[in-house]
Amino acid sequence: MIKTWSYIEEYKNLKKRILYSIDKTLKSGDLFFGKQLTLFEKKFSKLNKVNHGIAVGSGTDALIIALKTLGIGDDKNDEVITVSNSAIPTVSAIKSAGAKAIFIDIGNDYLMNPDKIQKHINKNTKAIIPVHLYGQACNMEKICKIAKKNNLKVIEDCAQAQGAKFKNKYVGSFGDIGCFSFYPTKILGAYGDGGFISTNSKKLFQRARRIRFYGIEQLDKENKFNKKYYANEHGINSRLDEIHAAILNIKIEYVKNYINKRKRLAKIYSKELKNTSLKLPIEKKNCEHVFHLYTVYHPKRNLIIKKLKKRNIEVKIYYQFPIHKMKAYNYMTKKKKVNLPITQKMTKGIFSLPLYPTLKEGDVLKITKVLKKILKDI
Ligand SMILES: Cc1ncc(COP(=O)(O)O)c(C=O)c1O
Repeated sequence: MIKTWSYIEEYKNLKKRILYSIDKTLKSGDLFFGKQLTLFEKKFSKLNKVNHGIAVGSGTDALIIALKTLGIGDDKNDEVITVSNSAIPTVSAIKSAGAKAIFIDIGNDYLMNPDKIQKHINKNTKAIIPVHLYGQACNMEKICKIAKKNNLKVIEDCAQAQGAKFKNKYVGSFGDIGCFSFYPTKILGAYGDGGFISTNSKKLFQRARRIRFYGIEQLDKENKFNKKYYANEHGINSRLDEIHAAILNIKIEYVKNYINKRKRLAKIYSKELKNTSLKLPIEKKNCEHVFHLYTVYHPKRNLIIKKLKKRNIEVKIYYQFPIHKMKAYNYMTKKKKVNLPITQKMTKGIFSLPLYPTLKEGDVLKITKVLKKILKDI
């Protein structure tokens, strides 16, 4: 079976270094807030060209902390504009912070359509969360311009797009706050959960850091436990432990190579599949797509997936159900008629082909060969 994603070969390649580093970390005497975390926060902030960064327990936590840091959800009427074709956590974080999600439609690149934002802004609107889906940046120029004009905050959901650029600038450096995930399948994946908050504002950095750790002021430059166990404000517990920070400190060295490999494999897919009935990913001008996922569209998706499975090729759907239609969140839209035609159409036909840095080019060619035959026959 060719899997959609696997970390096994990558782990085999890095095993010696990783096990050595875990052993060293365990012997250091620090399990939280030690040298590994401080080093990782520095490295990841530098990589993404932001002034400040805080590692947290997950991408979901990063979004919740970002919203709380900006005071969004302090009033129960607060609204946040986002999209419905995302991972559930984009919206669950808004709910967890105490606010309400307002869903707008996407463009044919599957990303937030900035032209749809303005008409959803009212006195309760506090922020916009664009999602850089599949590894491609939203139009941050337009989104930030609308936010500025209407005095709204911008939180970038960068969970799927670390390393992606819009006009030569990295995602996570446009908005007030950027949120990343180190879930294992992501561009930089841990072997467990992890997340990151990026910001260029010192004030927001300091507040997010407090909220990450029970509201305690972490003044120590070394990022060690502050001796004064005293909550300055309400916070949560969302720590990235030293072992995971140590693993990420090794993997971050390879992330640029991983992105290049993803781009190379995506190029092969696009070349081989260009004259088929599949709608291929749109790579926007002035953007660097990092191909977290290679997502295609076909109206006969379910049949194609069945046939691929028979040929031992696994594909996945990100995402099959728009969030505004899910039982957990449809109450947010019940009173208003929400019409998201592009979102609804795409969820019926999208699927993502296998793509990860250690996938062999030969496997990609095998997949495209099988796929072309299936497309001819249906
Ligand atoms: C777009 C998006 N936002 C947020 C998240 C949440 O990240 P995590 O799984 O680390 O909580 C994910 C990952 O699943 C995601 O893909």
